[in-house]
Amino acid sequence: MTTPLIGISKSTIEVKELIRHVASSCLNVLITGETGVGKGVIAQNLYSNSMRSSKKLVTINCAALPETLLESELFGYAKGAFTDAHRNRPGKFQTADKGVLFLDEIGDMPMTLQSKILHALQNGKFSPLGSDKEIQSDVWVIAATNQNLEKKIAERKFREDLFYRLNIINIHLPPLRKRQEDIPSLVDYFYDCNKMKYPQSQSGKPDSATLTKLCDYPWPGNVRQLQNTIKKQMVFNSWEKVLEELPGAVLANRTEPEGNGQTNPAKPVTREPNKIISEFIDTSMTPDRMLENISLKKIKKLASGRVEKEVIAFILKKAGWNRSLAAKILKISYKALLYKINEFEVHPPIK
Ligand SMILES: Nc1ncnc2c1ncn2[C@@H]1O[C@H](COP(=O)(O)OP(=O)(O)OP(=O)(O)O)[C@@H](O)[C@H]1O
Ligand SMILES: [Mg+2]
Repeated sequence: MTTPLIGISKSTIEVKELIRHVASSCLNVLITGETGVGKGVIAQNLYSNSMRSSKKLVTINCAALPETLLESELFGYAKGAFTDAHRNRPGKFQTADKGVLFLDEIGDMPMTLQSKILHALQNGKFSPLGSDKEIQSDVWVIAATNQNLEKKIAERKFREDLFYRLNIINIHLPPLRKRQEDIPSLVDYFYDCNKMKYPQSQSGKPDSATLTKLCDYPWPGNVRQLQNTIKKQMVFNSWEKVLEELPGAVLANRTEPEGNGQTNPAKPVTREPNKIISEFIDTSMTPDRMLENISLKKIKKLASGRVEKEVIAFILKKAGWNRSLAAKILKISYKALLYKINEFEVHPPIK
């Protein structure tokens, strides 16, 4: 069953519109975004909204298999191609004929196979391993990656011609921390999906203070991490425990206990170094992935942005939302403060 793409943020709505448009065209699509943002969900929705939904959606994870196995999985093999090849076996390109081939984690595709894929896409035909015969196949190719393919091209680790073949349409989903408006509807959705699975769950959905904390958390593992957090809450029936155990535990450490709603400036925010790291870096990434996704400059910007946002929100609150007083306290111009309020989307409390 297709998972619906839940969310009301501007970027999610734009992606939904793009899915509707692209699904009728069957132009090759490259889906990009950090791990866990929902690239797989987009691929499913493209398929189920297309004219090819009565045929197969065939998925292959290019990162999960060693090169030789990946090749035989994609293109199949002929009887006798290697010692254990006792019969002909079709590959994914053939199985997906008239349907959709989803090349997941395409950034991990070895260079040698990239040429063979390009050839298959350009000519609509390919040869299985150990065979001279060419097989015709008409597939709609959707690819996904959390890597920066342009950077890989510059490093000569990804073929530019294949990139342009795949990236006719790019669908990019920003990380969850950049579309916080999606969080309440995702929380609702994951509760409803898991109700039957966790009948012991009692208290259920978060109150508004907890929801605010969930929206403020940076979710380095994106929607997948939010989904697992909801499941954990449903099992343990305790938001306190779940929030405390979130990597970085930013929520538990950052504010005073619920009730007075004030942040205490006198109390230093103490976080263990490894918690600071997991706040800004997905620590489960391999060094290869880190090479693609991390730079000190980016992290510095993210970290200083988050500190600025918190300080501005705190001072505005202290100044009773008197913006010119807040600007004077912060020693910045009134115009600069307005710009930052807008940039960081700092909102006055709803009365
Ligand atoms: N907008 C959404 N609405 C509903 N469920 C979502 C949404 N986004 C993600 N999910 C769920 O979150 C989980 C992670 O999503 P998905 O596997 O599509 O991410 P991904 O970007 O492909 O991650 P990876 O890069 O690790 O492969 C899945 O269980 C998926 O069903
Ligand atoms: Mg995926």
